[in-house]
Amino acid sequence: MEFMDCKFLKSINCGTKPIVCRFFVLVILILVLRTLLSPFPGLNWFYDRSLYRASASTGPNLQFGLRKDKFLEVPQIIWGLNNQKIALARACLTARFLNRTLLMPSLSASLFYKEIDLLQPISFDKVFNFEKFNSLCSGFVQLGRFSDLSNQTEPFEVQKGSGRKWTKERDLNQLNQCKEDEIDKFEVVKIVGKNPFLWHDHWPVKDYAKIFECLVLVDEIENEAIKVISKIKEVGAAARNDKKIPQNGSVDATAPYIAVHMRIEKDWMIHCKKLEQRSNINQICSSKEEIMERVSRINGLQYPVFVYLAVADSLLEDDSVLSGWKNGLLPYEKKRLGVWEIYKRYPYLIQSAIDYEVCARADVFVGNSFSTFSSLVVLSRTQKLLNLGIRSSCGEDLKLASFAYNIEGELGGPKRWRTDMSASSLQSISYGTNNISC
Ligand SMILES: *[C@@H]1O[C@H](CO)[C@@H](O)[C@H](O)[C@H]1NC(C)=O
Ligand SMILES: *[C@@H]1O[C@H](CO)[C@@H](O)[C@H](O)[C@H]1NC(C)=O
Ligand SMILES: *[C@@H]1O[C@H](CO)[C@@H](O)[C@H](O)[C@H]1NC(C)=O
Repeated sequence: MEFMDCKFLKSINCGTKPIVCRFFVLVILILVLRTLLSPFPGLNWFYDRSLYRASASTGPNLQFGLRKDKFLEVPQIIWGLNNQKIALARACLTARFLNRTLLMPSLSASLFYKEIDLLQPISFDKVFNFEKFNSLCSGFVQLGRFSDLSNQTEPFEVQKGSGRKWTKERDLNQLNQCKEDEIDKFEVVKIVGKNPFLWHDHWPVKDYAKIFECLVLVDEIENEAIKVISKIKEVGAAARNDKKIPQNGSVDATAPYIAVHMRIEKDWMIHCKKLEQRSNINQICSSKEEIMERVSRINGLQYPVFVYLAVADSLLEDDSVLSGWKNGLLPYEKKRLGVWEIYKRYPYLIQSAIDYEVCARADVFVGNSFSTFSSLVVLSRTQKLLNLGIRSSCGEDLKLASFAYNIEGELGGPKRWRTDMSASSLQSISYGTNNISC
């Protein structure tokens, strides 16, 4: 057991019975190592995904792929849930590039981003499961805690540039400099500057996808998402059975539902009109009527069908999003569904994370291809299909189908949508696109 680091054993706080405690730690370590070195890698589902076999950069001994004594620190991660996820992934990939462990960053619970004091930092592990993240992403990227730091020396600060002159090449050049001995010898490299979402992107979509898959909600929030989905199934099943819960009391747990991420609130409408002018694309904004019309033309749906509307809070006050839907489409938002009580106990970030799960797990998802939220939902659904071995998800089958309502598809319906997993950057996911691979 040459590779067993004795300092590691000593560093564990063992209270009053150090020898007994260290013995157990040792036993656990041996069990862990046995599992890792087991000749049946299929036991570990993470290794067993065909998608990952393609990535040759991570050797077979993934567990020891990254240094655990060198760290990267990044600024607090801000803005919407999706931008925070992208920023987090980008920070992880930067750490990987430098062969460092990323010190668990703070996320932001609120959406305010101009007033620093309103940012409400929230620790990563209050939202996502820290241990699961590290085990799922093991060998690829890794998070550490500030308590892992051994040395109290000052970190080396790296100032990220910004603005037009700060090109992708300069950014990459700076990262490469951080790999040279002069800087590499520091225990902590601390990046200072703006939100990592705005850093230059040097990585392919499949690297981001890998990290998103390691983001598993903590149990408390996961349970809330499950509650919302059960409520959707219950209401949907009752409606299918002529608005009666079946006599025998069973609920049709397979009752399918559509989730529609409706971006029609005022701020978005102003933003998307500007974007249409600037980019000379007229497929970005969709009115409420256009969305309802396109959704009603999705081919192959079995009516009646439950439609979950993921809308901004401001629209919850406005009943008009619930009216005008074609017969057989049963629209509900959080309030009408009776789950607002669940959501309202949480800050913005967590509400958004629950909505994300509801959309990601829907049988059919319809969103806007210029929304980062929709784009990340479709990325996760495309990834799920690939994991199920379904390589072409543009056909007739509605299983885990995704659509973009802002682009007209067959028969006046929304256009089928899948993420291009071979894209060399996250550009189209972060900024939107009307080229949606189907
Ligand atoms: C990180 O450094 C370790 C030790 O030097 C090396 O074995 C490993 O391959 C490196 N990993 C990456 C991803 O560069
Ligand atoms: C911390 O780092 C400094 C400089 O690298 C070194 O001189 C010192 O011995 C280190 N201290 C510990 C406790 O490792
Ligand atoms: C309960 O009723 C539903 C709807 O009528 C039916 O599909 C299901 O098979 C029944 N389950 C049992 C266990 O009888």
